[in-house]
Amino acid sequence: MKKIGVLTSGGDAPGMNPAVRAVVKKAIYEGLEVYGIYRGYEGLMEGAVKKLELKDVGDIIHRGGTILQSARSDKFKTEEGQLQGIDVLIQHGIEGVVVIGGDGSYRGAQKLHQKGIATIGLPGTIDNDINGTDYTIGFSTAVNTVTEAVDRIRDTATSHEYTFVIEVMGRDAGDIAAWAGLATGAESIFIPERGSSKEEMLERLTKGFQRGKKHSIVIVAEGVGTGNEFADYIRENSHYQPRVTVLGYVQRGGTPVPFDRILGTRLGTHAVELLMKGESGKALGMQKNEISVHDFDYVFSDDSKDSNIVTKLADISTELSL
Ligand code: F6P
Repeated sequence: MKKIGVLTSGGDAPGMNPAVRAVVKKAIYEGLEVYGIYRGYEGLMEGAVKKLELKDVGDIIHRGGTILQSARSDKFKTEEGQLQGIDVLIQHGIEGVVVIGGDGSYRGAQKLHQKGIATIGLPGTIDNDINGTDYTIGFSTAVNTVTEAVDRIRDTATSHEYTFVIEVMGRDAGDIAAWAGLATGAESIFIPERGSSKEEMLERLTKGFQRGKKHSIVIVAEGVGTGNEFADYIRENSHYQPRVTVLGYVQRGGTPVPFDRILGTRLGTHAVELLMKGESGKALGMQKNEISVHDFDYVFSDDSKDSNIVTKLADISTELSL
């Protein structure tokens, strides 16, 4: 293999830049040519491809977002779109592509693999919802961001004895809510992986205020509903006047924490090694501190699902919310 490409796709995540940097530097170190494919699969189909040099990835290890930009593409889900993308790769002589993104990006990578282009996927999403890896690139930074935001909100909650409902991202996964909820000592955490009772939430709020607590924090993963829905429930069933904060896209941006930089760097370099060995159709991750390599099909299957940790964290949070 002489020429490889790298793209970022789906929602951007902090740590994508260190991953791109690692792919580019490792490829050049190994004597390969490396091409940046801009705006994900959309850019691939349009031919937005440029050869990258070391200088192109200078000064990016600490930057959020992705220098390659990203997009979600419906067209690439079609045979026509995939063939258009493959034409562009063939024109440039690119034989292998490192795809950094979430589930949808992996599905695109799987299609390329099935049509003869070697692909390796790196899990890039704040949601931590990719099977076959304990952590995705960007998750740790997002948890940090949410934790910092909730700490700030708690200052105001304490000053005014407010109850706050904070809605966090995660799509169908409760990882951000569970991790940040535990890190901030939230009274209640609502995640899609585990049923939680709204009545019990109200009981916990009341018990807390009765024993002199000056604030209450409820964290809601977007996969179970909106912060406003939960606030309406509290308003209708108690005398509390909850405030709502939807953290939104602030969770996607910002300087990647060291964990995400290192994860992106380790997986990025490993992806190049695998392409050079002729591997394809593989999703990389980190399990028990070791790099994991799984077929895309395994990652898409129910066999690889593990929602154990988030439910455990939410359980601990409930036990400690006396
Ligand atoms: O997958 C990352 C994520 O930020 C999810 O948490 C959220 O549901 C979604 O992307 C928002 O997507 P979009 O960028 O398309 O608005």
